[in-house]
Amino acid sequence: MAKDGIFGFIFFASVLYGAWFFEVGLSVNVSYDSKALIIDGRKRILQSGSVHYPRATPEMWPGIIEKAKEGGLDVIETYVFWNYHEPVKGQYYFEGRFDLVKFVKTVQDAGLFVHLRIGPYACAEWNYGGFPLWLHFVPGIQFRTTNGPFQAEMELFLTKIVNLMKEENLFASQGGPIILAQVENEYGNVEWAYGTGGELYVKWAAETALNYNISIPWVMCSQEDAPDPIINTCNGFYCDTFIPNSPSKPKMWTEDYTGWFLSFGYPVPYRPVKDLAFAVARFFEKGGTFHNYYMYFGGTNFGRTAGGPLVATSYDYDAPIDEYGFIRQPKWGHLRDLHMAIKQCEEYLVNGDPKQLSLGMNLEADVYYTTPTDCAAFLANYGTNLDANVTFNGKKYFLPAWSVSILPDCKNVVFNTAKVVAQKTVGDAASTPSASASKVSLSNSSWSWYLEKVGVWSNDSFTANSLLEQINTTKDTSDFLWYTTSIEADEKRDAFLLIESLGHAALIFLNKKVLAFGYGYHDDASFNISEKISLEQGNNTLDIISMIIGVQNYGPWFDIMGAGLYSVILADLKNVKEDYSSNEWTYQVGTEGESLGLDNTDLANSSIWTQGSSLPINQSLIWYKSTFIAPEGDGPLSLNLASMGKGQAWVNGQNIGRYWSAYLSPTSGCTDNCDYRGTYDAQKCQKKCGQPAQILYHIPRTWVNPGENLLVLHEELGGDPSKISLMTRNEQGVLTNP
Ligand SMILES: *[C@@H]1O[C@H](CO)[C@@H](O)[C@H](O)[C@H]1NC(C)=O
Ligand SMILES: *[C@@H]1O[C@H](CO)[C@@H](O)[C@H](O)[C@H]1NC(C)=O
Ligand SMILES: *[C@@H]1O[C@H](CO)[C@@H](O)[C@H](O)[C@H]1NC(C)=O
Ligand SMILES: *[C@@H]1O[C@H](CO)[C@@H](O)[C@H](O)[C@H]1NC(C)=O
Ligand SMILES: *[C@@H]1O[C@H](CO)[C@@H](O)[C@H](O)[C@H]1NC(C)=O
Ligand SMILES: *[C@@H]1O[C@H](CO)[C@@H](O)[C@H](O)[C@H]1NC(C)=O
Ligand SMILES: *[C@@H]1O[C@H](CO)[C@@H](O)[C@H](O)[C@H]1NC(C)=O
Ligand SMILES: *[C@@H]1O[C@H](CO)[C@@H](O)[C@H](O)[C@H]1NC(C)=O
Ligand SMILES: *[C@@H]1O[C@H](CO)[C@@H](O)[C@H](O)[C@H]1NC(C)=O
Ligand SMILES: *[C@@H]1O[C@H](CO)[C@@H](O)[C@H](O)[C@H]1NC(C)=O
Repeated sequence: MAKDGIFGFIFFASVLYGAWFFEVGLSVNVSYDSKALIIDGRKRILQSGSVHYPRATPEMWPGIIEKAKEGGLDVIETYVFWNYHEPVKGQYYFEGRFDLVKFVKTVQDAGLFVHLRIGPYACAEWNYGGFPLWLHFVPGIQFRTTNGPFQAEMELFLTKIVNLMKEENLFASQGGPIILAQVENEYGNVEWAYGTGGELYVKWAAETALNYNISIPWVMCSQEDAPDPIINTCNGFYCDTFIPNSPSKPKMWTEDYTGWFLSFGYPVPYRPVKDLAFAVARFFEKGGTFHNYYMYFGGTNFGRTAGGPLVATSYDYDAPIDEYGFIRQPKWGHLRDLHMAIKQCEEYLVNGDPKQLSLGMNLEADVYYTTPTDCAAFLANYGTNLDANVTFNGKKYFLPAWSVSILPDCKNVVFNTAKVVAQKTVGDAASTPSASASKVSLSNSSWSWYLEKVGVWSNDSFTANSLLEQINTTKDTSDFLWYTTSIEADEKRDAFLLIESLGHAALIFLNKKVLAFGYGYHDDASFNISEKISLEQGNNTLDIISMIIGVQNYGPWFDIMGAGLYSVILADLKNVKEDYSSNEWTYQVGTEGESLGLDNTDLANSSIWTQGSSLPINQSLIWYKSTFIAPEGDGPLSLNLASMGKGQAWVNGQNIGRYWSAYLSPTSGCTDNCDYRGTYDAQKCQKKCGQPAQILYHIPRTWVNPGENLLVLHEELGGDPSKISLMTRNEQGVLTNP
């Protein structure tokens, strides 16, 4: 064990020189057998990592990919995000953060391969799972099943992407970096809900993909019935026991969760690197050949790209590279050391099946031979609490509980998953300012504001004698839908107002005054509001602004899960109920400020903004505007919105995402020192209980100018902008391992 450091150094050098450099333009033959992907005749053990291009800026891509390469990755995996590539049917967009070709070429320039998950369903905690909302309105459509209109649109988009890649010679068979492609995504999880239509759809999707003749393997993840020659792959926290559906296919792991995604109102999930490394080592110990971290870099859900319900803006994921593009230690370093150790075993691992030996209770060895005397071994202690000393090939080895040791020569341990020698850093991207961040306050005097109208604000409102489903009504052009009606009272009296909503949140005004706020959870966004009210004699106005926080992205038939109000009842004090659901309701899509374009830089100097000393705080439906001079340096910026309620923020017209600081997570269920031993799940290790999920918001450095910058906030509930601060983030403070 004491020799680890020295061996680590030797591996570092040899792995670097052994790295895969492919020459642009030369056709590369990618195939597979039961052991591995075969690239130009060579069986490969491949480490891959998910990096989603729109969750960073193009300026950030090269740095992230370089850090992934230094971290020992061979492959970068990404989904393709249909809804932003085809925002309007037939109108395509591939620019800026959505420049897919440039992203793939950036990976190619770094000498890494690409796994392109075309889908086109992405899930990914991305708005509507990546489907364009217009798809929902195609007559007769049913998503993700045997349905003509859906299959026609899916095929058009698949063809669009395949042709785009072909035109740029990006497939390996054309000399490009793409060695693997995916059609559909985790359909096996929901297939039961679609009956035979679902089974036929899987076959159709497979045939459609194969017909593109792109000469690289296709995969379908979490898809036990993936037809040959499509490889079914594993997604999960552990995949060592996974077996592909045919002995001719290699054992591949397409989603190994480095942490978990963050939702508003929830604590911050994290995954100890010792457990993550254990899971990876076990996978390769048990014959695994391709492994992908989901996410290796998570990044940011800028604008309204976050999925739902209630997925937060930070998609940091506790990944080896943090939301801001900085290396997260010791995670990144420990995994790099692991990759080097596994690479050292490559020729043994691809050569054949291991010989398995029991070394005691919960203790085993898997030994891979190239010749009868030449071998590499994995020694595992999969017990959850007892450390052990084992004897292997006549030598003694110490194996901590829930750990794997890697012996590329069957003698010397070069890596143990539970022994972290990489450096530590402090802080987490979404909620803790890093030690070395420099802070800038925004001065009080510079704030201007605009108070929005409550309720119907324009002449393009419309009426219906029912409560309309929100997504069908707004078509997701805005998070907001106003529902307005009036309640007549013969006399001044008290009553109960009972409102039921499919989600995700709603702010209620009675006679233009805030009455109540209701909201759901990520797991179930539906909620009820029951509120005692005082009615004035005559006409009382009920204005309800219903809010969506990311359109649903997961589950069977998720595309038709609704949102918005579905029942409004008035009960008198004797509980005699009057149903207002089929009253005449007036509807208004969006808010007044959105329609005015207050987020736009064009209006920065407009007299529409009020300026003065009486800055309103704790005010609902208000827009705030200020300017700031960016702190010096070239690091990314972080906006601290802890003093705000719920809303969205823009910098120089760029939407940096939704915030919801007022939504605190439950006070229990957290631990700062989560025991890495034992089976991990998404709730096992969480921090920041009783706090907002996210207070810090990423402003990419390329979105700010050297001079004055415009900051605009749309505050929906109430907050105090005078307490907002801004800081530059630097490489996280490094602590040495004690
Ligand atoms: C690609 O490689 C595989 C396996 O090595 C081989 O069977 C196949 O013929 C090759 N294809 C081409 C086009 O060279
Ligand atoms: C793929 O190859 C098959 C068989 O050669 C052919 O029928 C089909 O048209 C090809 N598809 C494309 C998109 O080139
Ligand atoms: C393993 O062996 C070492 C050295 O002999 C000893 O100090 C240690 O207590 C042993 N640990 C276990 C769990 O047996
Ligand atoms: C901003 O205003 C608040 C409240 O009026 C005050 O406490 C604070 O010191 C002011 N901050 C600055 C930077 O002037
Ligand atoms: C609504 O108002 C706009 C701007 O005030 C005006 O141009 C438009 O004609 C109006 N539309 C209707 C239907 O009244
Ligand atoms: C809302 O109230 C209805 C009727 O009482 C009930 O069926 C439903 O479960 C409630 N929903 C929530 C989220 O509490
Ligand atoms: C109640 O007041 C609203 C807003 O002032 C108005 O639009 C509506 O027509 C009134 N309803 C009745 C029944 O008077
Ligand atoms: C939209 O309307 C359709 C048809 O009325 C309905 O099935 C669906 O649940 C509604 N909501 C959504 C989000 O599609
Ligand atoms: C607003 O005014 C400032 C200072 O007067 C100026 O620098 C800036 O360019 C103006 N912005 C716009 C959009 O006109
Ligand atoms: C903000 O306003 C709400 C109701 O409008 C009130 O309950 C709350 O106490 C206020 N908070 C502060 C800090 O003034």
